[in-house]
Amino acid sequence: MPKELKRIGVLTSGGDAPGMNAAIRAVVRCAVYHDLDVVGIRRGFSGLIHSEFQKFNRRSVANIIQKGGTILETSRCPEMFRKEGRKKAIDAMKSEGIDGCVVIGGDGTFRGVAALQEECDLGFIGVPGTIDNDIYGTDYTIGFNTAVNTALDAIDRIRDTASAFERIFFVEVMGRNSGFIALEVGLAGGAEEIIIPEKKTDVEKLCQSLKDSFKRGKGSSIIVVAEGNQFEDTINIAKYVQMRLKVECRVCTLGHIQRGGSPTARDRILASELGIAAVEGLRSGKTGHVVGEVKGKIVYTPLNDTWEKKKQIDQRYLRYLPILSI
Ligand code: F6P
Repeated sequence: MPKELKRIGVLTSGGDAPGMNAAIRAVVRCAVYHDLDVVGIRRGFSGLIHSEFQKFNRRSVANIIQKGGTILETSRCPEMFRKEGRKKAIDAMKSEGIDGCVVIGGDGTFRGVAALQEECDLGFIGVPGTIDNDIYGTDYTIGFNTAVNTALDAIDRIRDTASAFERIFFVEVMGRNSGFIALEVGLAGGAEEIIIPEKKTDVEKLCQSLKDSFKRGKGSSIIVVAEGNQFEDTINIAKYVQMRLKVECRVCTLGHIQRGGSPTARDRILASELGIAAVEGLRSGKTGHVVGEVKGKIVYTPLNDTWEKKKQIDQRYLRYLPILSI
């Protein structure tokens, strides 16, 4: 760890998430507040390796709290998984006089940071920014709440056309390896069923329960499917169900729409809080940790826990779905 923290860097890495700008703003303002120099690093680790630095002041982050995306831009950087790439990153930080860095991103990003941390005595704090919410050590990640609300808005619209045509809609939401978005969107959107990686889906049982619901008088159904599900392709499930039930099925993939847009109040507040906690953590000598919020309290979790330990989905929510969609 650096003896005295004078200059910190901030970067965003991996999939962008609404609220990343609010986090950058909080990091910069908190650094200035504590009389630290702060440097913005463009295009994630790729920009770090290539010394894409920009000196920031309190005004550099004016009017960004409401913006989606990331003003710093982002990247996925394979060079960080090679020792030569990491050496370049460390050398760039040292020659710029950066003693500590706040890294905003997801689990892939934190793996890169952990490798860097092992090879130098500079300070690193991760801030969980990903719509997937799949980071152990925080109840919610920055961007998740906005993504859920964006997807929900789409589902509400889909419901109109689904009921007009008495169709079954399979709505695919993001979540590379996790069903957090699907679960919340499914519950809030009144879905009949969700298909997520954390729970095995039996297609025959799904067909039967849809059939029963039509017998009970339902005209249309919405199934929310997480991108990382057990089936190869959501279209295949829809085709199969259509063939079995003789009811028209449609697939709607929401995709990157969920990553954009203005962050919700919840995401802005979370991002602001975690941004401050990251800088204050570095100041107090913390390094090699990710800052999160668990049960309303700020916690620092070792970087490797964020991918070695698995954050569990809420089983209560799973239980509610069949009750509510009767
Ligand atoms: O990790 C966030 C995420 O949005 C995932 O939900 C999704 O699988 C992935 O990123 C998409 O990545 P890309 O932007 O590279 O297509």
